[in-house]
Amino acid sequence: MQDKSKAWSGRFNEPVAELVKRYTASVEFDQRLAEFDIQGSLAHARMLGAQGIIGTDDVAAIERGLGEILEEIRAGQFEWLLDLEDVHLNIEKRLTDKVGDAGKRLHTGRSRNDQVATDVRLWLRATVDDVLTRIRNLQISLLDLAEQHADTVMPGFTHLQVAQPVTFGHHLLAYYEMLKRDAERFADARKRINRLPLGAAALAGTSYPIDREAVARALGFDGVCENSLDAVSDRDFAIEFTAAAALVMTHLSRFSEELILWSSPRFGFIDIADRFCTGSSIMPQKKNPDVPELVRGKTGRVNGHLVALLTLMKSQPLAYNKDNQEDKEGLFDTADTLLVTLEIYADMLRGITVDKAAMRQAAAEGFATATDLADYLVKKGLPFRDAHEAVARAVRAAVDKGCDIADLGLVELQAFSSLVADDVFEVLTLEGSLASRNHIGGTAPEQVRKAIARARQQLG
Ligand code: ARG
Repeated sequence: MQDKSKAWSGRFNEPVAELVKRYTASVEFDQRLAEFDIQGSLAHARMLGAQGIIGTDDVAAIERGLGEILEEIRAGQFEWLLDLEDVHLNIEKRLTDKVGDAGKRLHTGRSRNDQVATDVRLWLRATVDDVLTRIRNLQISLLDLAEQHADTVMPGFTHLQVAQPVTFGHHLLAYYEMLKRDAERFADARKRINRLPLGAAALAGTSYPIDREAVARALGFDGVCENSLDAVSDRDFAIEFTAAAALVMTHLSRFSEELILWSSPRFGFIDIADRFCTGSSIMPQKKNPDVPELVRGKTGRVNGHLVALLTLMKSQPLAYNKDNQEDKEGLFDTADTLLVTLEIYADMLRGITVDKAAMRQAAAEGFATATDLADYLVKKGLPFRDAHEAVARAVRAAVDKGCDIADLGLVELQAFSSLVADDVFEVLTLEGSLASRNHIGGTAPEQVRKAIARARQQLG
């Protein structure tokens, strides 16, 4: 018995098994592409009309039908049928129900293979624009916080051991730079996303006199995909997007790790506003940094989608294979996760309060100015390796006494090097250390302010 509801049922002798229908259908998730599917169909139909491939009355009927369908979808009144497999066949069937033969002519010179690739690219282009806006908002949030803390002293770490003093503003600007590169990556990927597959048809192109450039222009693409086999089969543009997303998430995961550490009472550097935290049901003293922890956790999920997409692609022969239907859920989830993370992060940064005294105290206790003392001796003529050795001995003495190097006093410091004079205390202060790193990219408050000004100018 034939199943007449299928667009391709003509050659089959028995209907598809129920379980197989469910296994192969994508409508549950690809209906999300509906608006873009309609945009693509409108541009295709208008081109077919302009080229005399279908009649102008057909084009008018298709425009009217798709317009109505769009409204039904937006109003949540469209009935999606699993039997109709995917978003494309659902919309086409509804169109045919509405406008008859004109609807059946829409698919002339087109295949679902080039159709779905077009839909995904249109959707992804809009998504990239949204991502870029949100990265920018987060960058502004970072700059605002950095500006408030251009002079705030904190310990800079290597190996999570106190290394040298930095300003909190400088530390935050490191994330600004990461996000700047992230934005560049998305803007660059957008160029390759923004190419039109339509016209590739199933895989080889079509024998109708189509005008691909016109369709590309109508849909705002920068140009057409120049090989039909490639156009329908590769999903590298989706992989690039996911890779760029995984990097943003990785950057924010590192930042989250720091927020978690800093907000722990052991550090006590920052407080995250209550609206981003939760309590514990059994330990009344707890305030858990759930949002940064989830950002860290969700990074694993996005990284997983990247590996899934790469793996999806790696063994596919040209051209289209049904494997590609599996690109969507991971891609959608990547976008959703990234977009909401960027939004919540921008707001969370506005809810951070800093305990300057605790940060300062941690920097002061960690011999953070030891390098400055070594540099001081070098400037007085000692070779750096000898200076390093002299300071290491001074640090050991301070550790034994349980005090800072500066507290050892002039006489005791002179025991480690006769080059030490009164002016040594200028470099041993945290402020002296910060101010001395006064070059582009350095942590001096003056440089931090300049970097913020440059960044604001870049953001426009
Ligand atoms: N739902 C399919 C996808 O997402 C559409 C393309 C199907 N093409 C085909 N020849 N079965 O990839």
